[in-house]
Amino acid sequence: MSEAAADEDSGVRANPGVGDGTRAVRAGLPEPVKHEPALPGPVFAAHYHLPGAPSGPYTYGRDENPTWTLLERAIGELEAPGRDGVETLVFASGMAAVSSVLFSQLRTGDTVVLPGDGYQALPLVRAQLEAYGIEVRTAPTRGDAQLDVLDGARLLWIETPSNPGLDVCDVRRLAGAAHARGCLVAVDNTLATPLGQRPLELGADFSVASGTKQLTGHGDVLLGYVTGADAAAMATVRRWRKIVGAIPGPMEAWLAHRSIATLPLRVDRQDTTALALAEALRGRPGVTGLRYPGLPEDPSYKIASRQMRRYGCVVSFVLPTRARADRFLDALRLVDDATSFGGVRSTAERRGRWGGDAVPEGFVRLSVGAEDEGDLVADVLRALEESAE
Ligand SMILES: Cc1ncc(COP(=O)(O)O)c(C=O)c1O
Repeated sequence: MSEAAADEDSGVRANPGVGDGTRAVRAGLPEPVKHEPALPGPVFAAHYHLPGAPSGPYTYGRDENPTWTLLERAIGELEAPGRDGVETLVFASGMAAVSSVLFSQLRTGDTVVLPGDGYQALPLVRAQLEAYGIEVRTAPTRGDAQLDVLDGARLLWIETPSNPGLDVCDVRRLAGAAHARGCLVAVDNTLATPLGQRPLELGADFSVASGTKQLTGHGDVLLGYVTGADAAAMATVRRWRKIVGAIPGPMEAWLAHRSIATLPLRVDRQDTTALALAEALRGRPGVTGLRYPGLPEDPSYKIASRQMRRYGCVVSFVLPTRARADRFLDALRLVDDATSFGGVRSTAERRGRWGGDAVPEGFVRLSVGAEDEGDLVADVLRALEESAE
């Protein structure tokens, strides 16, 4: 590519009008250099040559790494295409990213509003926040119930769609109400991915996610990130990463960046099959509480169709008993009985086995992979029938 073409290429990536596939295959790539690969390999370095007075960009490996820099740029281009002044920081895991925002923004005496139905590690976070003298209020995601407990809060934490219940709240409405009270807003964007939802465009201050799930999508990397537009707030998140040291390895960061090129292909395939599976599960004997935000009759659909660009790859439903759910999971051939979600191989689990979610014993969370739609739907329906009796 010529220099002029390379300039145009950066323009393509920053242009909010280009398609997701076009943006994703080039996201975060450096300008082409003759004889160099498009995506430079992982940089393994604990420290960098640094004669004289220390100055950046690369001084010590806990603070910065060129492989993170490219990945951070890629995620930023997907989370907030065409927007200046947005910064992304990558972390060792989703929880490292979640904690970095909560613990860097809150002080003793502050109040934070969490979802009462969010990811199952949030109650552990709550206990830790309370131990530091931070008041924690919770309210359900559904019905924008967090609005009612915002007064006096310093930070509102939203998880939409929620995991595992798949409820959705109106981010724009909640962010508007929070900002009117001087309250910061963070959205956990794990389930949607930046291709499904752009929290910063909806008014959030931070988009936070586990990249372990669909963003990287192969079930082989743990990663987290925070994207934010407020430079001062992001500086404190960066400081938190430095003092806690919850950093990703260069190999993980590189694998994540490589995976982002196929994110549009994966989400299109997985999310389309998830809708087909949800439609196939409708009205099946023994299946109740079917949830998928892309189903027009789903309680989440109305808001989801306004604020999301894709509805995710997770479908949840309830089977009559714990034993029936276990038999169903055993009978599946194309779906691994495993936790996590978003990978190219379908996974499902009886969520109640962990004890951390307020779900019925027969509640199944199924993450749709990249298998052929017909094969996957047939496998699930067969396992349902076989597990009946
Ligand atoms: C919504 C949500 N947020 C955060 C996390 C934490 O991510 P990680 O497992 O990468 O630490 C998860 C993990 O399942 C999650 O589902």
